[in-house]
Amino acid sequence: MVKQKLLKKRILITGATGFIGSHLCLYFLKKGLKIIAQGSSSKSIATLKEKLKIFQNHDENIEYWQQNFLDETIKFPDFSNIKAIIHCASATSVREGTLENYDKYFKLNVTTPKILAKKALEVEIEHFIHLSSGQVYGHQTSFPITEKTIKNPINLYGISKLIGEHIIASFGILGLKYTIVRPFSVFGTGQSNIISLIKDKILKDESLTIFGDGTQTRAFSHVKDFCRALGLIINNRKCYNEDYNLSGPKEYSVNNLIDIISNKLNKKPNIVYREANVNEIKRNIAAVNKIQNLGFFFTESLEDFINNQ
Ligand SMILES: NC(=O)c1ccc[n+]([C@@H]2O[C@H](COP(=O)([O-])OP(=O)(O)OC[C@H]3O[C@@H](n4cnc5c(N)ncnc54)[C@H](OP(=O)(O)O)[C@@H]3O)[C@@H](O)[C@H]2O)c1
Repeated sequence: MVKQKLLKKRILITGATGFIGSHLCLYFLKKGLKIIAQGSSSKSIATLKEKLKIFQNHDENIEYWQQNFLDETIKFPDFSNIKAIIHCASATSVREGTLENYDKYFKLNVTTPKILAKKALEVEIEHFIHLSSGQVYGHQTSFPITEKTIKNPINLYGISKLIGEHIIASFGILGLKYTIVRPFSVFGTGQSNIISLIKDKILKDESLTIFGDGTQTRAFSHVKDFCRALGLIINNRKCYNEDYNLSGPKEYSVNNLIDIISNKLNKKPNIVYREANVNEIKRNIAAVNKIQNLGFFFTESLEDFINNQ
């Protein structure tokens, strides 16, 4: 269904050079769709081209857009042939959300969505999918989180993503057809994350710094499942002006993860616990009933991923 409706026009994926964006490029290209892939530099775009080289013979299906969203001017590609935008580009680190990075976070997570959503509305893009984050819920006492849970961000990343959501909704009031999707913690190949970090440190016998006491939990979902979820949303009018949380089905504490990985490697980790420099969420798991109502189901597990590494 995705294929038939979007075959003629392109999907613009911002942040295509990032972890989720690059998997989305592969996902939609495999479906035979055409994409415009945005990245901030020639270096990150060259790396993406390498990842997409299996589609080399289908060059007409891929266009690249090099744009640093921190630049004063934004030179848009031809928007006339874009059907949908999936906006992934963002400042993404919770820990880098400090005062010295305030302007960068505001520009990338608030001003950039504003510029793109305005343009999307002006040229009547059919669907603007905005990637927010489970971090917008911040500190909660009742779980699982649902789309109706009141948002209470506790760090700069979370609050900048929440303002970004409001910006998108403000264009929704003016007619933009948008969907907000909130990944919680996504894992998969090609990502430097807590799993790869723990593994590397243990393998290299280096000390493993854990911020906090390691009891903080996250619910991981696989990037392949995440891409399938977006495949269900992109062409679905029911999703217009809606929001969807996508967390994994099960919580793991950081200490749990270290145990699973060190058992698999059969090596003891050398853990150093440190105080975190920014406020970190203690628990972050969401119910996924709303997205399951679109036909979504999980196919991948974190344990299998770790065991097959
Ligand atoms: N991965 C997760 O677990 C997770 C969880 C919650 C929410 N999310 C959200 O999902 C989206 C994608 O996350 P991700 O994990 O794929 O992030 P990522 O790997 O850190 O990728 C970030 C992307 O943003 C682009 N970007 C950063 N600064 C830019 C700038 N100044 N100008 C233009 N582009 C810039 C990067 O482009 P270059 O590489 O070319 O610089 C990259 O493509 C983000 O909106 C994030 O907030 C992700």
